[in-house]
Amino acid sequence: MTQYLKNTWYQAGWSDELPPYESTISKPLARTICEVPIVFFRTADGAVTALFDRCPHRFAPLSAGRAGPDRIACGYHGLEFGVDGNCVHNPHGPVVSALTVRSFPVIERHTAIWVWLGDAERVDPALLPDLGYIDETPAPARIVGYMPTMANYQLLTDNILDLSHADYLHPTSLGGFNTAAKTTNRQDGNRVRVDWLADDCVAPPAFRAGLNGAERADMWIEVVWQAPALMTLTFAASPAGAPRRPEDEGYTLHNMVPETATTTHYFYCATRRFKLDDERFSGFLKGALAQAFNEEDKPMLELQQARIGSHDFWDLEPVLLKIDGASTRVRRTLQAMIEAEAHN
Ligand code: FES
Ligand SMILES: [Fe+2]
Repeated sequence: MTQYLKNTWYQAGWSDELPPYESTISKPLARTICEVPIVFFRTADGAVTALFDRCPHRFAPLSAGRAGPDRIACGYHGLEFGVDGNCVHNPHGPVVSALTVRSFPVIERHTAIWVWLGDAERVDPALLPDLGYIDETPAPARIVGYMPTMANYQLLTDNILDLSHADYLHPTSLGGFNTAAKTTNRQDGNRVRVDWLADDCVAPPAFRAGLNGAERADMWIEVVWQAPALMTLTFAASPAGAPRRPEDEGYTLHNMVPETATTTHYFYCATRRFKLDDERFSGFLKGALAQAFNEEDKPMLELQQARIGSHDFWDLEPVLLKIDGASTRVRRTLQAMIEAEAHN
């Protein structure tokens, strides 16, 4: 795991990907994170268990087996493992200590499942990101997505830290004002924040909801990054010249979880403070985001990864533009954190 930060919480999925335990339909969830295959399942008490997804016998994925009320059974020859990863039943002989799989700490919070792949003695629930805006938003107004993408997770981070791309890749929904916006970035410890300010611009369709028909708007966007690749994007739009109001703000989680060096689990959740009961607006926004992320970002990111191939990003000597300030800062910060961890 050299290119990944270890001692951190990775989002493994959304809570509703693992429905409550039922004897008839308890399907485990297989998800590889940082190249580690993991099986997740919910036991009868509602808790989520995460185990290394490879049976110690003939290496079948446990996720191809069956989750029980307090265990998972390998689908190949029937070994059964408890929530701590120890074998609890061997139909072919005694239970011996070699019949064990690694178990990983799990926390369920902010409607998501989080897993710790790092050192057991460093597990720290306080390191979980605070995503209270998700809990404060009524479920029907949350736009929740999962977009597997065949590109390195840092390319997906770059994509959110440089929103100028929206003007070219999403001209009909999210873009139009970013290139001309006043952009600044700053670092606070291991967090990096980027701001875009655009006065008296034409608001893109996805941001017009709070403008009451005004043609011109003042727009604010802030992205705060924290390691390894979790970003919260805050936006607000007001009729040009009107003050910014907290009740016009929206908050979107963009969480890029590495699956392998060239594939990423992209989790997003858009929340807002306005039009919470407006189902039509939720439907419109859901469609606009799906179009922008799935039909526009994803193909470009995957083509970009294909061109990069197995080269190291910096070895290709990317030309740095003014728009790359934050993403360069973030790449260097993360690299330093990974190296520091490797030497501790
Ligand atoms: S491979 Fe799992 S019991 Fe044989
Ligand atoms: Fe985009």
